Amino acid sequence: MTTLLTLSIKKGDPQPIYVQIYRQIRELILAGRLGAETRLPSSRALASELGISRSTIVTAYEQLLSEGYVRSTRGAGMFVMPLSPDHLLHVRNSGELEIHSSTKSTIPDSPKPKPFDIDTALFELFPAKDWTRRLAASWRREHPDLLSFHDPFGHMPLREAISSHLSLWRGFECAPENIMITSGTSDAMDLIFRVLAQPGDDIWMEDPGYEIIRHGIRSNGMNVVAVPLDEAGFDLGIAKEIAPKAKIAIVTPSRQFPFGTIMSLTRRLELLDWAHHSGGWIVEDDYDSEYRYEGRPFPAMAGLDEHSNTLYLGSFSKVMFRSLRLAYLVCPPHLTDGFRETISKQGTKASFVAQPALADFMESGAFGAHIRKTRRVYAKRLVHLQSTLSTQAEGLLVAPPQTSGLHLVAGLGDRISNHMTDKDIVEAARGNNVRVQALSDYYQNKPCLQGLVMGFAGHNETAIDDGVSRLVASIKSLLS
Ligand SMILES: Cc1ncc(COP(=O)(O)O)c(C=O)c1O
Repeated sequence: MTTLLTLSIKKGDPQPIYVQIYRQIRELILAGRLGAETRLPSSRALASELGISRSTIVTAYEQLLSEGYVRSTRGAGMFVMPLSPDHLLHVRNSGELEIHSSTKSTIPDSPKPKPFDIDTALFELFPAKDWTRRLAASWRREHPDLLSFHDPFGHMPLREAISSHLSLWRGFECAPENIMITSGTSDAMDLIFRVLAQPGDDIWMEDPGYEIIRHGIRSNGMNVVAVPLDEAGFDLGIAKEIAPKAKIAIVTPSRQFPFGTIMSLTRRLELLDWAHHSGGWIVEDDYDSEYRYEGRPFPAMAGLDEHSNTLYLGSFSKVMFRSLRLAYLVCPPHLTDGFRETISKQGTKASFVAQPALADFMESGAFGAHIRKTRRVYAKRLVHLQSTLSTQAEGLLVAPPQTSGLHLVAGLGDRISNHMTDKDIVEAARGNNVRVQALSDYYQNKPCLQGLVMGFAGHNETAIDDGVSRLVASIKSLLS
C-alpha cells in the first residue's frame, strides 16, 4: 500500500483531519493511482501509520463509502470501486479536481468594482457588523422556519415588516398575507406569468426597459410588446395600437428604468382604468424608489388602484445588496390562493436563511436608518457626478437634471454624436478600466436613443473623478 504513504496531514489547515484524508484518497482514486478493487489499509493500520485516532480514519472512509468511491466487504475491508464515467474527470498534477464541461460558461469581468458599475454596494456604507450580529442572533433563536419551509410565501415577520415599510415609505397599504418573498425579481415575474398568463399572450413592456424581465417573458413563451416612451412615461394609446389584446403591462412608474422619469398621474389613471375595464393586469416594478433626494418619495401606483389589478414588486437588491437575492411581490387579495397553489407546486426559491435577520433589521429601524444614511451619501455623489460631467465632459456627455435614483443616463454631446455610438464608448472605456453601459442595449426596438448608463451610488467622489477623467480620455481617443 505504498500509494497511501503519500497521505499527509497539515496541522494548521482549517479543514478537519478526516476531510483532509478523505480528499486525498478521493483524489488518488480519481487520478487512477488507486485502481479499481485496490484494498484500502485497515483503519487501525492507517491510523497508527499517520499517528491519529482510528475514528478519524473511519469517518473519512465512511465519507468515501457514502459517495460511492469504495465498497465495504464484511471481514475483508474496503475496496476501490471502478470509476465511471471517468473520462469527464481529470485530476491535475497538483491533485486539484478539474471538471470538464462541454459548454463554456460566461464568467463575468473582473469582480472588482469599477466606476460606473450599477450594482455596486460598498462595505464602507453597509452596516456589516450590525447585520452579522442580527444574522447570528436570528439563528440562535431556533425558529422552526429556519430548518424547514413553513409557509411558501416566506417568513411572516419579514412580510409584516415589508407591509409597514410600504405603508411608511411608499404610501401603499397591504396585508402581510398578500406579500410573498421571492428570490429576486425574475422569480417574482416567473410566478406572475405562470399564474396570470398563457404562452402566446402579449405582454406590454416599456422600451427601453429591463432585459432580465424581457428575457423572463420570452422564456415563459409570451411575446414582449415593446412600447415606446415619452416624457410622461408609458403611453397606453400607443400600446393599444400595437397590441390591443395584451394581458399584462409591466411598468416602472416611480422611476422609469433606465431613464428615471416619473409616469404622470394622468397616465397612471389611464392604465388603471384599462386594467379595470379590460381584465388586464399591471405589474409595478418599484425597484429603487426609496432613493428620491428632494421631497417625499412618489407614492406607489398600487396605492391608487381601487380595483386590485396591480401587482407590486419590490426588491432588497438596491437598499441592501444584490447577492441577498430577496425581493417581494404583493398580489391583490383575490389572487393570493392562485399564487399559493403555484408556489406550493413548484417549490419556494427564496432562501429563508437571511429572512429572520432581515425582518429584525427592518423592525428595529436599522433598515430605515440605512436608507436615510445612504440617501444622503448618494445624493452628494449624484450632484458630484453631474457637476464633474458638466465641467470635464462638456460637449461630450450631457447629464440631464435628476434628483433621484442610483444611476443616471448621460446623452452623447454635440461634439461626438455624429462620430461614435454609445457601444463604441463602452468598448473604449472598458480598455481604460471604466464600466459604463450603452443605453441602446436597453432597447428592444429601433430607432433607439444613444447614451451611457452610469451608476454613481457605489462610487465615492475620488472614484467618480478618476472614472470621469478616464471616460473622457476614452471618448477623446475615439475622436482622434
Ligand atoms: C428595473 C429593475 N427591476 C428590478 C431590479 C431588481 O432585481 P433583483 O431583485 O432581481 O435583483 C432591478 C435591479 O437592478 C432593476 O433594475
